[in-house]
Amino acid sequence: MHLINFKGLSGSELTEIIDKAIDVKRHPEKYRNALDAKSLAMIFQKTSTRTRVSFEVAMTQLGGHALYIDWRTTNFTIADVYDETQYLSRNVDCIMARLKKNADLQVMAKASHVPVINGCDEKYHPTQAIADLMTMKEKKGFLKGLKLVYIGIHNNVCNSLIEGCTKTGVKITTVTPIFNEPSRDEELLEEARKTGLYETTLDAKQAVKDADFVYTDTWVDMEFFLDPKYKEEKEKRIRIMMPYQINSELLKESKAYVMHDMPIHRGYEISSDIIESPRSIIYMQSENRLYSAKAILLKLLENK
Ligand code: CP
Repeated sequence: MHLINFKGLSGSELTEIIDKAIDVKRHPEKYRNALDAKSLAMIFQKTSTRTRVSFEVAMTQLGGHALYIDWRTTNFTIADVYDETQYLSRNVDCIMARLKKNADLQVMAKASHVPVINGCDEKYHPTQAIADLMTMKEKKGFLKGLKLVYIGIHNNVCNSLIEGCTKTGVKITTVTPIFNEPSRDEELLEEARKTGLYETTLDAKQAVKDADFVYTDTWVDMEFFLDPKYKEEKEKRIRIMMPYQINSELLKESKAYVMHDMPIHRGYEISSDIIESPRSIIYMQSENRLYSAKAILLKLLENK
């Protein structure tokens, strides 16, 4: 079993991982040697703070071992992803990969003899969405019937939230004036529409009024953030998105908790005062990456 997105996962399987993450957080001692002598290869083509740290610490605390592999230092750069993965999966028990292209991750999954976890590509960020749903369940005690409003660019994080929410009974409204085309997955959106739990609007103020959670993300993908060639597109996005910033004015009539998957760009997608306000659960959400990483690893590796 791989975790590329949530397409192969039922709502109850997803809920099982979320509940496991909450249990792991409450009772870490129960899982101390659960992955004794197991190895996780973590291969990164893009930058990361949380995904790297949470999975590496998760493996250590579960009794296993993780290897950080910078893509640029490997022979993935000069050979087929298929062949290199054939080798890699014969020496480790699991692979977590943050690749630029989902197409390469699909090749990796096909070649691998062990589970492959998507550490975020241009289409999906499933490990983040599991931490998000865990955080929501911790705050409210349940998921079914809650309402999350995502305000930002329609991107990989947005896709996985749509999948994760609609599979676990959470209503999700997206307010996304810009669609990041590389993330487009019509099949995912069609499946979400069928549940009746997914809708989209441009009226952010109306959408947040009865929301339980308001969520935002960066307006520019990490691989382009410092790229001079992307300057014009970055400026265009800032111009279009500024009216959709999460700030006190937008949330005046809302009691929603505020979420962000981080890294944050203060003063752009979210104002500083909101990040520091009591309604912000952003740092708790980021802490939960560790427990959700453990739950994902346990699901894929325990007793294997
Ligand atoms: N949210 C998230 O995936 O953080 P990193 O990019 O730092 O891993």
